[in-house]
Amino acid sequence: MDKKIIYSGIQPTGLVTLGNYIGALSNWLKLQDNDEYQCIFSIADLHSLTVRQVPSEFRNRALSFFAQYLACGLDPQKNIMYFQSHVHEHAELTWILNCITYIGEASRMTQFKEKSQKHPDNINMGLMDYPVLMAADILLYNTSLVPVGVDQKQHLEIARDLAARFNNAYSPTFTVPEPYISKVGAKIMSLQNPLAKMSKSDSNLNATISILDSQDDIMRKFKRAVTDSDNEIRIGEDKPGITNLITIYACSKGISVEDAVKELQGLSYAALKEAVGVSVVDLLAPIKSRYDELIKDKDGLLAIAKAGQEQASSIARKTLRKVYKKVGLVQL
Ligand code: TYM
Repeated sequence: MDKKIIYSGIQPTGLVTLGNYIGALSNWLKLQDNDEYQCIFSIADLHSLTVRQVPSEFRNRALSFFAQYLACGLDPQKNIMYFQSHVHEHAELTWILNCITYIGEASRMTQFKEKSQKHPDNINMGLMDYPVLMAADILLYNTSLVPVGVDQKQHLEIARDLAARFNNAYSPTFTVPEPYISKVGAKIMSLQNPLAKMSKSDSNLNATISILDSQDDIMRKFKRAVTDSDNEIRIGEDKPGITNLITIYACSKGISVEDAVKELQGLSYAALKEAVGVSVVDLLAPIKSRYDELIKDKDGLLAIAKAGQEQASSIARKTLRKVYKKVGLVQL
């Protein structure tokens, strides 16, 4: 394959949020139409096992996430779309990379520290190994570009370090990937606490918009969104709630933040929240109706996943064979 590779994924925990859509999926949608690249998008289901899952719910949720990828407009004719667990080379490359990853660097990851605090009774090896599995995802496909939100930047750095370390220790093998992070919308904040990112596992459902929320739920959540004490509509570090709402409006309408501020100028905060809610309803309503159709056809979804698995495996197999040879494992 001579096209450059773009790789990204979402782990099927909680809900696909408006943050995931604006920070990641909306960029994937743009990139899938760029002929210079082959895009590969996975459901990072092995990553989700680092927190406890109820197996039957987990299985349904993972398939639902896959349907949501399609409902958003990702095209399986243009992209390779598959489940991470269907390509066993991910786990195998993780082992090789584990053997060149230092405990110190893995334990310094912000997300590891945060998740350890959140689940003190389940600080498992997988939680610490999470970024190494993510590095394996990326490096298996010789990825050039990884479109993600800003919270994944640190994980991208470790993937780059591991690629360079392996290349130096053996010989040039992996492409060192670059992050692709939008200037606007790379960190959508919680509607209830605009100082924290909108998180798919937030227990306060008013804080998060799911891309499948009903119109009523979307409008209600924006109505309750936390703002500031004055009534100015502008972007600023001192105005995190309003900045977040303006950003959401701009991204939902596909306009610049400056134009969004102009359009929203002069509105009361209640009217601002209404306008932002409507922009999000307009964005998400078609996705929800496509999703409702797609999720009915489980066999159709699995057929797409199977085709994706075959395409992904054929690339992953070659990379892993090369890696096994370089580290000195006996080849048959
Ligand atoms: P995950 O599942 O937490 O998030 C998926 C994507 O959504 C972005 N994102 C956000 N962007 C803007 N605002 C937010 N509030 C917000 N919340 C999440 C994330 O940055 C991410 O791009 N480890 C990854 C999944 C993964 C992956 C990969 C990504 C597994 N393997 C390989 C890239 C390449 C994760 O947990 O993302």
